[in-house]
Amino acid sequence: MIRVCADLESLSAVAAGLVAEEARRAVREKGRFTVALAGGGTPRRTYELLAQPPFRDAFPWNQTHIFWGDERCVAAIDPRNNARMAREALLDHVPIPPDHVHAMVCDQSPADSARKYEALLREFFEGGPPRFDLILLGLGEDGHTASLFPGSPVLGERQRWVAEVPAAEQGLHRLTLTAQVINQADLVIFLVSGSSKARALREVLEETPQPDRIPARLIRPSGRLLWLVDREAAKGLQALQREAK
Ligand code: 6PG
Repeated sequence: MIRVCADLESLSAVAAGLVAEEARRAVREKGRFTVALAGGGTPRRTYELLAQPPFRDAFPWNQTHIFWGDERCVAAIDPRNNARMAREALLDHVPIPPDHVHAMVCDQSPADSARKYEALLREFFEGGPPRFDLILLGLGEDGHTASLFPGSPVLGERQRWVAEVPAAEQGLHRLTLTAQVINQADLVIFLVSGSSKARALREVLEETPQPDRIPARLIRPSGRLLWLVDREAAKGLQALQREAK
């Protein structure tokens, strides 16, 4: 499903409402809410809104567990660190128990750090499949999502839940949930904003490139999938043009 919002602010308000709704539903049904956050810049405003009324005070923080879809192997205080952004925008401003925040930490080799986070997930999900209630994702201009980049050998990973990714052009490594874990989520929401994403969004939604060229196409969850996009990002979508006529 694709929902087009006027701009990033309205997209973020819709996203915050959906996250809050999913949290309350999961807690009603299962007694807890598990969400893997996206990094990058797009989700920041959504996180800021969740830290304010009306969302903050009606959110089941005590029953919520926060994870990440990916992380850069940089210091926790590095501005590129996804957990730092989420703490600044959200987690430092809400009453979530500190031991419910499960950050990806790269304090060993990237491979060992990936194994450590996978062990954390296997323990948390008690050996069963890692079925997150919600996973938030962004979309890169090259069609990547989380740290699943075009041509990466991780795209075909079927056993591991968490993998290390050499992001050579950025001079660092990253950790990422694998596509097979993301696809087990009950709900996946992509947040896509800006004209710079229009081509990638069209390629994901309306063309049939090789999945390893547009990794976001690998995301076909057994649960629900929602594309929350703004008008700028949706400009290239033919289907919407037809609807608009
Ligand atoms: C990250 C994300 C990455 C991001 C896209 C879009 O850690 O940066 O995992 O996949 O979602 O690159 O980033 P923007 O939202 O900044 O455009």
